[in-house]
Amino acid sequence: MNGMDELTIAMPKGRILREALELLEEAGYPVEEDCFETTRKLTVPLPEAGLSFFLAKPGDVPTYVEYGVADLGVVGKDVLMEEERDVYELLDLGISRCRIAVAALPDWRPSLHPRVATKYPRIAGRYFLDKGEQVEIIRLSGSVELAPLIGLADRIVDIVSTGRTLRENGLVELETVSDVTSRLIANRASYRLKSGSVDRLCSRLASVVKGEGVRT
Ligand code: PRP
Repeated sequence: MNGMDELTIAMPKGRILREALELLEEAGYPVEEDCFETTRKLTVPLPEAGLSFFLAKPGDVPTYVEYGVADLGVVGKDVLMEEERDVYELLDLGISRCRIAVAALPDWRPSLHPRVATKYPRIAGRYFLDKGEQVEIIRLSGSVELAPLIGLADRIVDIVSTGRTLRENGLVELETVSDVTSRLIANRASYRLKSGSVDRLCSRLASVVKGEGVRT
């Protein structure tokens, strides 16, 4: 409760990492990106800031946080919506902005037994249920854009960022399911027991996100 507790933060490998580290640096927590990228090391301590990081598959970040092996985590809203883990969502970091969308070939027509391929079976299932449309959800773990091209599914639910992957595969966006940005999440117990450190980090990040800079 003294505000000096060390915090362990689960960071997502991949495209969110760079922007998340930039944000942390602006917030006064300088983490060398090289620490993560030039080694195969999965843990990076930053003792002078009272932080230690580890790198995880994005989809696993909420799991580590729920089980308390990480106090905090950085993760896309898409993963949060899909994983439905018991964690606190503390802050919208406003980074890695993209959307979850329904896409298909331009000549797509509704069929009798519609099939939707996706990495997000829960999100897609909920979306079509809410629309009152019965579809078969086919779970894939990547390269989802392939599914309509080879006849596995007539539509996909996937992340669209620049739209380049859809374009280059001749697919068109039909509907937006949800806008997505990265979030700071917290373990429920850590949020109470380490409130000083958590509040400090969270409010520094919030100032940077709001464009106010950080008073140190
Ligand atoms: C994501 C997503 C799309 C692509 C969208 O895939 O699933 O395929 O990025 O980005 P764009 O609109 O800027 O083209 P990712 O690179 O994470 O790989 P994956 O398909 O193997 O999951």
